[in-house]
Formats: sequence, C-alpha cells, structure tokens
Amino acid sequence: MEPLLIAANWKMYMTTKEVRDFFRRWGDDPPPRSREVVFFPPFPLLSLVRDLMPQGAALGAQNSHEAHEGAFTGEVSCHLLKDVGCSYVLVGHSERRHLFGESEERLAGKFRSALACGLRPILCVGETLAQRQAGRTREVVLQQLAAALGQEPPARGFDLAYEPVWAIGTGHVARAEDAESVHEALYAYLREHGAGADARILYGGSVKPSNAAELLAQPSIHGLLVGGASLDPASFRAILTAGT
Ligand code: PGA
Repeated sequence: MEPLLIAANWKMYMTTKEVRDFFRRWGDDPPPRSREVVFFPPFPLLSLVRDLMPQGAALGAQNSHEAHEGAFTGEVSCHLLKDVGCSYVLVGHSERRHLFGESEERLAGKFRSALACGLRPILCVGETLAQRQAGRTREVVLQQLAAALGQEPPARGFDLAYEPVWAIGTGHVARAEDAESVHEALYAYLREHGAGADARILYGGSVKPSNAAELLAQPSIHGLLVGGASLDPASFRAILTAGT
C-alpha cells in the first residue's frame, strides 16, 4: 500500500514567519519515494504553505463546511479549499468531535461533500479512554466509520486515521500491536462493505521520531497523522524517513 501517507496536522499553531522558517529549515531533499507528505496548516496559512512547500508535497485543510457556498459566517467550503490548492481535508478529528460538538450526521455531510468536490477526505476515528477501558474500542471506531460512510459507502477516494483520543497530545502512544489490530478491524469493515478500495489507514496520537518506524512496520498501518512532532522540521523529517 505504498506510498505511505505522512501527514502534518499543525492545528492552531504557526505564523507566517514560522512557516517561512519551517520550509527554510526543511531543505531540498525530496521525500523518500515510498512516502507521500501532506501539510494541514490553519486556513490563513494555506496559500503560503502551498507556495513554499516542496514539490510533490500535498496541501490539506483541517476542517470544511458541507455546503458549496452560502451565508455561513466563519466557515470554509470544500469548493474554496480546492480552489486554493488543497487536495486533502480532515473530517471528524477528535478535537472537532469533542471540543466543537460535531455530530456524526454533520461529519457524514462533510465527508460526502469533500468527495463530491474532488477532495480526498481523511476520516478520523478513535475511542476515549473510558471507552477503551470498557472494552468498546472496536465497537466505537466501527460505528464512527459506518456513520460517516452512510448507506452507500464510497468505493474509493478517501483515507482513514485511527487516533485514540487518549493518545492525542498526551505522550501516550498506542502499542503498535494494539493499533494494528484496530487497523485490521477497520480494513475488514471496508472490505466487507466494498468501500475504500484505495484507502490507507493512518495512525495518529503522540507519534514521534522514536516510535514512527515501529508503527509503520505494522502490516496494516499505512501512514501517520502527526500533531506536535510535525511543528519542527527536523523531527517531522525524521518521521517522514522513519523505516525507509
Ligand atoms: P499529536 O496529535 O501527534 O500531537 O498527539 C495528533 C493529532 O491530533 O492529529
């Protein structure tokens, strides 16, 4: 399933100056052939990243609105994201689900609208610590996946990210074999429903240069969604080249 997808989720970090510094320090070395790199900056930095990022890298947005256009103050459509050069969009990151109360119905709409306008959504799923401790991990992630895919699951054109909520920004990374078994369950669901024939499933949650290679060595982990460690060019490059 190569190239593996290595994604930088910059969340609400970075300024124009910091973006310029990042790419100055990033250098000219192309990513390894077995890796695809995508940057998810905050909205106002999209065009700057598009102009400064290395050739072959892709641009993505952290969120979108499901409508084509309209009176939705503060929102951004997939149509506009595409217009500024995005090819990816995150859907249902746990910070959107838990901090901003995005419902599954809403997320299903965002997922559909991204596909319809030619963006490649990365649907994020993941259980909370309480759900994990109650032994509900698979049930929760498969239900989140089913809700977003809807009645007619798309045959291709999207990726998934498994991000256990308890591992995001906490320094507690999932054990590689535990993540692997969740990824296997997600792939099995896709196969059973004839969905996502080209989907890669990324792992996210406290990925660092020191754990990236072990995660990527798992047969069903086909990429990484990196938050904190993607803000520093040296550490993100180490993750990008881990295991190559
Ligand atoms: P983290 O964030 O790498 O800082 O844990 C990952 C994410 O939220 O996508």
